[in-house]
Order: sequence, then C-alpha cells, then structure tokens
Amino acid sequence: MTKIKLSTASYKGARDFPPAEQQKFNFIVDGWKRTARQFGYQEYGLPLLEPIEVYAAKSGEELVNQQTYAFTDRGGRQVAIRPEMTPSVSRLVAQQKNNFTFPVRLFSVANFMRYERPQKGREREFWQLNIDIFGDDTSLADLELATLAYEMMAQTGAKPEMFKIRLNDRKLIDAVLIGKMGLESEVAYRLTKLLDQKDKIAPEEFKKGLEEFCPATEDQTFLLELLNFNEPGQLPPALADFPEAQTLVQVLAQLPKLGITNAEFDFGLMRGLDYYTGLVLEVFDTNPANPRSLGGGGRYDGLVGLFGVEPVVAVGMAFGLSTFWNFMEGHGLLPEQQANPTVAILALDGQILPAVQLAQKLRQAGIAAEVDGSERKLDKRLKAITKKRINHAVFVGEKEVESGKFTLRNLADSKQDQLLPDEIVASLQ
Ligand code: HAM
Repeated sequence: MTKIKLSTASYKGARDFPPAEQQKFNFIVDGWKRTARQFGYQEYGLPLLEPIEVYAAKSGEELVNQQTYAFTDRGGRQVAIRPEMTPSVSRLVAQQKNNFTFPVRLFSVANFMRYERPQKGREREFWQLNIDIFGDDTSLADLELATLAYEMMAQTGAKPEMFKIRLNDRKLIDAVLIGKMGLESEVAYRLTKLLDQKDKIAPEEFKKGLEEFCPATEDQTFLLELLNFNEPGQLPPALADFPEAQTLVQVLAQLPKLGITNAEFDFGLMRGLDYYTGLVLEVFDTNPANPRSLGGGGRYDGLVGLFGVEPVVAVGMAFGLSTFWNFMEGHGLLPEQQANPTVAILALDGQILPAVQLAQKLRQAGIAAEVDGSERKLDKRLKAITKKRINHAVFVGEKEVESGKFTLRNLADSKQDQLLPDEIVASLQ
C-alpha cells in the first residue's frame, strides 16, 4: 500500500483557528454581539448555500461573476456559497414579513466565501458581523447606522483618533454625475467604479479613465475638488444645497452632538455593491499598515421587494473579522491569552474513579474540571497544567481518598489546603 502524506495546510485563503486564536475570535465576536444587543438587535441564522439568483439580482458583476463559489448540486440546481449576507437576510425579511413587527433590527455573525486573491485582511473564507434595520424610512436609521459603526469600534477600547468613519450618499453621487454633469447612467455607473478604485490603481490609469468617462475638463476639475475635500464633519459648499445631500448634512451635524467627531464626507466612497440607494459608509483604521476597510454598508431600499413582497426599506452594514482583528492587534486592544478557568484533578496512585467522581461533583456545582490520569512524574504533570494556564489543581491519591480530604493547590502561589469536596467547591466558587 502506498503511504499517503496529507498536507496540514488549510484551504488557500481559509484560516484555521487553533484554541488560542479561537479565543481571540470569540473575544471580538462577543464584543460585537453585546453591542448589537445593546442597540436592540436580535440574532438570526441562515444557510450557507443560496440559489445563485439571490446574488445575481443586485450584488454586482464582480461579486457574482468573479468571486462567488458557485456550483450545480446533485439535483441540477445552481447554488452559491454565500459571498455576503445582505441578499439572504433580505430574503428572510420578505419571507417573515407577516411575523416581524417593523422596524425590525437584526444581526448575525457568520462565515462567507469569495474567490479573491488572499492577502492581509482579504481571505477566501472570512467572517462578518451583519447588522441591519428593516422598515425604518426615517433619518433615525441613517443616524443609527453611523452611531453603531462608531460604538462597534469604541467598545473595543479604541480611541476616536484610531479610526475614521467615511460617509457618502448614492443619491448625491447620481445627482452630481447624472443630474449636474448630464452623464448617461451607464457611463455614470462606470465612473463610480473608477472613483471607487482611485486609491487602488495607478494615477495615470485613473486619469485616463476620468478623461474617458467625463470628457468636460470643468467636470473633471469639479470631481477632483470633491474627491480632495476633507474638512471633517462638513460637506463641500458646492454640494451642501443639493436636496440629495440633506441626509448627509443632517447626519454630519448630529454626530458631534453624540460625541462622534471622527466621521467625514468622502466623495470617493462608492462601495462595490450595486444595491445601495442612499447613505453609504465605511470604517477605516488610521494606521496605514491596515488600509482595508473594517466595515461598510448603507441604505438599500430595493432588495426586499425583489422577493415578491411590498418593498421594505433597509439600512445596515457588515464588519469583517480579519481587518477588525488587525485593527485591535495593531492598537494593542486584543487581550493576552486569558487564564483557563478549568480545575485540574490529578489522579495519583491509580485513583482514577475517585478523581472522576470529584470532577463530576465540581461540574455539577458549575466549576469546569478536567481529570489528569497520566502516570508521568508529578512535576511534569504540574508543568503541563501550568502551560495550559490552569490555576488550580486537586490531588486525589490513596491517602486523600481514605481521609475524604483532598489537596487543593493554587498553582500561582503554591499555597495548598486539605479540604472536603464541599469545601473545595466553596473555595473555588
Ligand atoms: P463589503 O464591503 O463587501 O459589504 O464587506 C464588508 C466588510 O467585510 C469589509 O469592510 C471587510 O472588512 C469584510 N470583507 C469583505 N470581503 C472580505 C474578504 N474577502 N476577506 C476578509 N474580509 C472581507 C458587504 O458585504 C455588505 N453585504 C455589507 C452590508 C450589510 N450592507 C448592508 N448590510
């Protein structure tokens, strides 16, 4: 028989989470969930696979044609591994329309797949917090989105100067490109894709595209002025009176009154996905070593209606775990590995059953306990337990079993006591 040697590497662009990494993962996700619940959002879950049409309708050409993991299942159905949550959660809202009381606030933490070139902060399998409000067409929803984006960051202990929230509005983009400049909507669409790429492509390539889509030099100058405008908390004066800018004017004026001073207008912020219809937003690390967005989203009023129900307006965003992790690590906000709350019960002299019985008693009292039955030297066993960051050990040997009293040792200071099982429970609680 030929000997097989399998690779230990994970699938390209997908990440393994050994326990120490999973602990950090859980720390981040716990913070997200706690904050989402504080704003009144409820958790949901959805399948990993969807019919491909769910994304083909509105997610955009790049995501659907180049990045989706799509295949034909054994029953001949065209399916996709979810590349994002927004179309799926819109499907859920359409399906549950008669059961939900609107406005409904929903969140989930889930994994997604996109066939992208893996690099720092970009993976093929990645995790997102999705957080969306459905059925609120007031400006509260837009303001809440920006506030949520801020609080998700602030709850990590991040200071405002560590990150930026950038805002724009799809209606305003159309008002400038189609309304003011008179571009055909197809040309305007391609121009938005170019503006979105401004900082990711070579300056000559950007200039060439700009001249192609926007031939009038005064329009090019105007666009460059808008792109270069960076007064925090304000809109360029040339845009402030546009009716389509009023949501932004309002949100930018309200945020400082909530203590949020790191939000700014960015005409270059387009967002790659096609379904946005109003305010759009992204969160960035101010540390240039982590240039990819930590999260993004906006208003998308047209998705739920695609599922054959009366349209339901929606506002929401997603934070990505990888860039969020890089942000926290880069700013020293991820805690060191935490102590292990488990108690190690060491069976000595072959006293396995009494050790298991004691562990059972501790667990029944809500204390995590693992039994160590190995026959190695005691100092080796204690070393291994300390390496696991376990702080307490109980020795169960012949002498202890006879007397009914067990040695509880605090491994941090090596203090120890002879205690009855009930006293061990009381001491550990
Ligand atoms: P998105 O901008 O495609 O939006 O993704 C949101 C966040 O997910 C990004 O800012 C990034 O942190 C993370 N992310 C995206 N792709 C990857 C990847 N390949 N590897 C690692 N992280 C990634 C959406 O997905 C929208 N559906 C968000 C939304 C929710 N809009 C409304 N509600």
